[in-house]
Amino acid sequence: MKLVQHSILLAAGLALAAPALLAADAPAAAPAPDSRVSGVLRADQPGAVIDRHLYGHFSEHLGRCIYEGIWVGENSPIPNTRGIRNDTVAALRAIKVPVLRWPGGCFADEYHWKDGIGPREKRPSMINTHWGGVVEDNSFGTHEFMDLCEQIGAEPFISVNVGSGTVQEMMEWIEYMTSDADSPMTRLRKANGRAEPWKVKYLGVGNENWGCGGNMRPAFYADVYRRYNTFAKNYGGNRLFRIACGPSGDDTEWSDTLMDIAGRQMNGLSLHYYTLPTGSWSGSKGSATQFDEAAWHTTLWRTLKIDEYIAKHSAVMDKHDPEKKVGLIVDEWGTWYDVEPGTNPGFLYQQNTLRDAIVAGLNLHIFHKHADRVRMANIAQIINVLQAMILTDKEKLIVTPTYHVFEMFTVHHDATALRLDLVTPDYTLDGKAIPAVSASASRDAAGVVHVSLVNTDPNRALDVALRVTGMAAKGVTGRVLTADAMNAHNSFGAPQAVKPGVFNGAKLTGETLSVALPAKSVVVLELK
Ligand code: AHR
Repeated sequence: MKLVQHSILLAAGLALAAPALLAADAPAAAPAPDSRVSGVLRADQPGAVIDRHLYGHFSEHLGRCIYEGIWVGENSPIPNTRGIRNDTVAALRAIKVPVLRWPGGCFADEYHWKDGIGPREKRPSMINTHWGGVVEDNSFGTHEFMDLCEQIGAEPFISVNVGSGTVQEMMEWIEYMTSDADSPMTRLRKANGRAEPWKVKYLGVGNENWGCGGNMRPAFYADVYRRYNTFAKNYGGNRLFRIACGPSGDDTEWSDTLMDIAGRQMNGLSLHYYTLPTGSWSGSKGSATQFDEAAWHTTLWRTLKIDEYIAKHSAVMDKHDPEKKVGLIVDEWGTWYDVEPGTNPGFLYQQNTLRDAIVAGLNLHIFHKHADRVRMANIAQIINVLQAMILTDKEKLIVTPTYHVFEMFTVHHDATALRLDLVTPDYTLDGKAIPAVSASASRDAAGVVHVSLVNTDPNRALDVALRVTGMAAKGVTGRVLTADAMNAHNSFGAPQAVKPGVFNGAKLTGETLSVALPAKSVVVLELK
């Protein structure tokens, strides 16, 4: 039995001390039987705002993410608007993508933006050395990316080339995109068909510069960052939010050094953490669809590690930045499995099952919990790569279980977190325990309260009893995402095998919200 406190960040950005449930607040007579989950939702104890940027996405010139997933070209028989496929745009609009990172990833540090502007037939090609060695013809470049952002209503997040690029190249790109002065770069932009500058807030200065972005050591990169940052200019009314390359996993030496040397020059420090069922980059990472309960459990156990890693980096950042001016930007996260059999190993194409939906729900709840420090997160990647929202096969498009969680959780975007104290049993396998239930609550601008719940246990439905204080809820409705099998997924033959349905398992009796939470499920409730 674990006491878990969710959504507990005060508006001032301070976390409450871990609570002991007061006798008067005790949600149910203790000890609760093992299949019972209890707690208190304190609707009058608001926390931090759940920034919609926690629901951000990432797109890279990798496999079929950009080409086919997004860009099909104006002459394609696939319905498109200026070369961008319409079905993708419609699906992405429905999940309210707040921000989209581009062009990489590792690709960003070998991308030369001037190759991707001007008449497409004149654009030079390059070899995408990281991802399959395929020829990149640069037909999708800055204008096409900005058009995509405008079509889906997302803010752009540009990662500039530090590893193999130059400061001048970055300077000119920023000027090209954001300046309205009469200058060589703005004249070039106008000549290429765009009169008005774009607004670009989020600027990533390099990517994984400890690895594919140049194999730098932290102090060296910190100085490189300072140099690039000096020349990353704010033109006109555009104000850049500068994101330095941060650590991977729990590498606090990197975050400590970066904060020490460059903390005052940045607005954000990135963090990358991928969930590999085996936990190892060498050998098999495990199949996306063919797995047993041990792999289910270990995947969830590993994904929950991000909570600990965020806490560790936050503590390091607190040392240098107690006012929490610098955001932790989790700009790559998600599951990473073996590629689908028969596909290009360099394309990172994987299926997406109910397990991924559970992973998504758990991570999003963790980001809510750390919303005082974590200002943005970008799942990797948006289409056809890793833990994708969308899979395409030429003209066909399906959405994944992960997509459905993102869609169900849109109710939390920019809502105010509410304190929720939860006592949950564990889900234990092979001696390793994880909480069976994760939950988060928020109140939106219209005053509607939403509670999201994730049951990690694939075998056991759980009875949740929440005492709701600080509001007089009159009714509850809900939606649920679940399936019979742990590896249930959507395919081109069965595109709707996993999709949300109406949830009738919640009821309000006085102050008590009772939920019959199905095994392996994600539920979102609305209280009015
Ligand atoms: O998302 C795939 C790759 O993972 C990215 O290009 C890189 O940043 C990370 O290692």
